[in-house]
Amino acid sequence: MRIAVAGATGNIGALTVAALERAAHDVVRISRSLGVDLTTGDGLDAALTGVEAVVDATSYTGADRDAAVAYFGTATQNLLAAEKRAGVRHHVLLSIVGVDRVVGNAHYAGKREQERLVTEGPVPWTIVPATQFHDFAATVTGWTEQDGVATIPPLLVQPIAPEDVADVLAEIATGAPQGRYRDVAGPDLQDLVDMARRTNDARGHAVKLVPTWSSVLGPEMAGDVLLPGEGARIAPTTFDEWLARQR
Ligand SMILES: NC(=O)c1ccc[n+]([C@@H]2O[C@H](COP(=O)([O-])OP(=O)(O)OC[C@H]3O[C@@H](n4cnc5c(N)ncnc54)[C@H](OP(=O)(O)O)[C@@H]3O)[C@@H](O)[C@H]2O)c1
Repeated sequence: MRIAVAGATGNIGALTVAALERAAHDVVRISRSLGVDLTTGDGLDAALTGVEAVVDATSYTGADRDAAVAYFGTATQNLLAAEKRAGVRHHVLLSIVGVDRVVGNAHYAGKREQERLVTEGPVPWTIVPATQFHDFAATVTGWTEQDGVATIPPLLVQPIAPEDVADVLAEIATGAPQGRYRDVAGPDLQDLVDMARRTNDARGHAVKLVPTWSSVLGPEMAGDVLLPGEGARIAPTTFDEWLARQR
């Protein structure tokens, strides 16, 4: 099957390409560094020739809410319109568990706009809500790290291995559209501060962590807000198993 992965050079996108290629699919890689830009539409029509399914694993990291909504909105509209022209039969979107419960965060606002356009769009779809990835804690400390000090909120999460997310996306992309899929999560509850400390230790990266609710991720993410719902699909790889591979 010919399947395109948007965000093919990213964390999850690259692993999804690898999972699809292991299963002998013909994979088209989409990213700006590879000459295809969802924001302008450049290269999209040529990239989607003969493609049956598209996985959207692109991302945007800006902290301004309007810019995030505009980015995800424009990119998603361009991608869906090109898919329609190319006769793509299945659009698979990687989203986030609890995206409707976190109203103030810019990235989540952008993801809600992306979900809205996909659900109202012209291409049959599956939206896959995933919990935070095992590398999320180190990503978060990376946002603020300066002179060996970084802030981190004490979030309760049930993180999932990036490889497991990619395997789920690859499996879903090769099947029929399913609408909103079950939440997808890892097997164990974790505290984000502890995850950050252990990840940076395993990588030999010395960072002093300052727990706070006053940085990028605020108190509206506290409690059970980020945890998967009833009937979630639980992926196999524990945080400890993933951590052992970071050393
Ligand atoms: N981090 C988490 O814990 C978590 C949890 C659940 C869901 N998610 C979701 O997972 C998704 C993927 O995250 P990630 O961490 O794998 O992302 P990432 O590593 O930042 O990769 C983003 C990818 O998107 C491409 N891209 C960005 N803008 C593009 C554009 N205009 N046109 C074409 N390609 C573009 C990038 O390549 P170029 O720069 O070359 O364009 C890159 O390949 C995100 O949407 C996020 O919301 C994340």
